[in-house]
Amino acid sequence: MIEHGMAADDLRARLQELRAGDIDWRGGHAFSLVYNTGDHEHEELLESVVAAFCHENALNPFVYPSLVQLEHEVVEAAASLVGNPPPAAGCLTSGGTESIFLAVQVARDELFARHPDSGRPAIVTADTAHPAFPKACKYLGVEHVRVPHRQDGRADVDAMAAAADALGDRAALVVASSPCYPYGIIDPVTELAAMAAERDVLCHVDACLGGWLLPFWSRIGEPVPPWHFEVEGVTSLSMDVHKYGYATKGASVLLHRTTDLRMRQLFVYDDWPGGLYGSLTTAGTRSGAPIAAAWAAIHHLGIDGYVRLAEVVRDVTHRFVAGIGAIDGLHLTFPPDLSLFEFAADSASIGAVGDVMDDRGWHLDRQPGGLHLMVSPFHAEVADRFLADLADAVATHGEDRGKAATYGGVA
Ligand SMILES: Cc1ncc(COP(=O)(O)O)c(C=O)c1O
Repeated sequence: MIEHGMAADDLRARLQELRAGDIDWRGGHAFSLVYNTGDHEHEELLESVVAAFCHENALNPFVYPSLVQLEHEVVEAAASLVGNPPPAAGCLTSGGTESIFLAVQVARDELFARHPDSGRPAIVTADTAHPAFPKACKYLGVEHVRVPHRQDGRADVDAMAAAADALGDRAALVVASSPCYPYGIIDPVTELAAMAAERDVLCHVDACLGGWLLPFWSRIGEPVPPWHFEVEGVTSLSMDVHKYGYATKGASVLLHRTTDLRMRQLFVYDDWPGGLYGSLTTAGTRSGAPIAAAWAAIHHLGIDGYVRLAEVVRDVTHRFVAGIGAIDGLHLTFPPDLSLFEFAADSASIGAVGDVMDDRGWHLDRQPGGLHLMVSPFHAEVADRFLADLADAVATHGEDRGKAATYGGVA
């Protein structure tokens, strides 16, 4: 710990120095982690809202009516986009992982209520489902049954039904992704939800990625299969405002079909000298900043703003897909349903191609099957340069340096 506090200017300079090695997302070099509108007015607006609310604490809603109202309006806006579940059955969480964590917890506790003697609860997902599901299972003592995806990249409904049947009364939740992260593919939500409902099992749609883009994707004429509460049998859904909602980090909406299901999230403790403690989400203290910024992003953009950005994302995605398809020796693993996908090399090493792209400052995630690309609006500015570098990388790469396929990590 430093003995004497630093002068503000020195401190800012030090922070700037530390950031020198960080990814240049503002220059369009990031293809995951950040959703870059390229709209400076939007960015600056959010930054000012974050600054205004970063000291506020949503832990005690009774002293922050503003945060209660802002959260309510974010949840209401989200519900209006996904088949109108009751907004009172939703909440704002810190991100997709927390929303998924709570969906698993609700399913576990619902199973305990319905079948108290069933044994260890279990969830059934495709292997393409986000690692937040096994993470939640690990924390919550739930078994994760992971079923290989079909040849077209989608969840295998028959195999997942067989897995649910094998679990019997222990089956608490069936999961569908809209879309999954590795391939940008939407699972057959209608079939999965029907399969779950037939077995009296809950069904969560992970629309963390697609939740704030798919509603506008269909408005601009792109094909979108049924993916939300309009599908009978869907009992909960997560959609992250900090992804294609273009808010700052720390905001996801979790919605349930009924307020009763949401009540299973509630933690109340009334045996504490500090008084009654109640909380709906996992955190205690909750910064007001992501709540206010999520509200600001939604209200600054409005439906017409999201439609405009969806058009840009769609057009750039088409440019990337066509451009990569035109490079001899590269192919997409699966044609994506949305704005993210994996591509691979026919015979060359895709890792070596990734090495050249790294050297040129492009950050593509590596997956076991290839390189991963997720489109933000700002990529419109860099798509041609990126594709030229990629063609060059395929033509000129050397030996694969053996960089591992990693997404998150422990440094
Ligand atoms: C499909 C999907 N679900 C869940 C998550 C987890 O979201 P978060 O990183 O906000 O916790 C992600 C993150 O990329 C995702 O793509």
